Amino acid sequence: MEGTVSPVGADGTDVQGRVALVTGAGQGVGRQVALDLAAHGASAVLVNDVDPARADAVAAEIHAQGGTATGVACDVTDYEAVGEMFAMARSEHGPVGVLVNNAGNQGGGGAAPPTLPFWEQGPEHWSPSLGVNLHGVLHCARHALAQMVEAGDGGRIVTVISDAGRVGEIGGLEAYSAAKAGAAGLTRALARAGGRHAVTANSVALGATRTPATEQYLADPALRKQLLGRYMVRRIGEPSDASAMIVFLASHGASWITGQTMPVNGGYSVTL
Ligand SMILES: NC(=O)c1ccc[n+]([C@@H]2O[C@H](COP(=O)([O-])OP(=O)(O)OC[C@H]3O[C@@H](n4cnc5c(N)ncnc54)[C@H](O)[C@@H]3O)[C@@H](O)[C@H]2O)c1
Repeated sequence: MEGTVSPVGADGTDVQGRVALVTGAGQGVGRQVALDLAAHGASAVLVNDVDPARADAVAAEIHAQGGTATGVACDVTDYEAVGEMFAMARSEHGPVGVLVNNAGNQGGGGAAPPTLPFWEQGPEHWSPSLGVNLHGVLHCARHALAQMVEAGDGGRIVTVISDAGRVGEIGGLEAYSAAKAGAAGLTRALARAGGRHAVTANSVALGATRTPATEQYLADPALRKQLLGRYMVRRIGEPSDASAMIVFLASHGASWITGQTMPVNGGYSVTL
């Protein structure tokens, strides 16, 4: 309403009072998001990762900075384990009010090497990518939305996708592209399902971002040059670039933004 004072913090980006769960938060983008959500007032951050040592290390970082966090080792592709993770989150900290679906990768675990053309691949190449990038999002969103609706206090779901899901990448990234596009479609459906309960759902499409997953290939000068040619802002993204958008979408101030895919990619998307 005109003239009313915003109920949120001065910059509109706080997540005060929310219990946040970030998947794949043991390094890279997810780690930065977990740290930033804690710094922006989350009452607790559940730091999920399939690698227990990584999850615990980031939770310890948050503790050291005065926040509350619990490391949770869980593979998001395992539906039962995801259910147990959310049950634990609620019993230890209260219902999850912010879910960041960040766990993902371009394949791994036996996925197609970048040189294998699509017509030489099979389901064994696609499954790992679909598992973490799409099924993992389904599993976590299912449990998060249940807690948000039951708690009746609204909520935020933010899903990290990739420009690959918008343009379609080749050379072994076909299933990754499909999974990320699927996750964006699911996010729009979640926005519809959650809207009447004041739950928003958005996705964030990243361009090339410097993380442990990408450090090695970004070090290749030819590839780096090719990538930089795409971006109006001539640099590779940093986890903090991604996190700024993700934390904003997770904040109380973003309560009327839903069903969207926000690009964080140095301007590449303008050409899409
Ligand atoms: N870095 C980029 O250039 C880039 C570009 C576009 C999109 N993305 C997306 O951003 C997200 C984060 O990427 P990143 O570069 O920080 O990756 P990263 O590999 O550096 O970190 C991902 C973390 O997720 C964890 N993880 C992997 N599978 C998991 C599972 N099944 N369950 C739980 N945890 C799991 C890993 O152990 C790791 O700690 C991913 O969804 C990725 O697809 C990244």
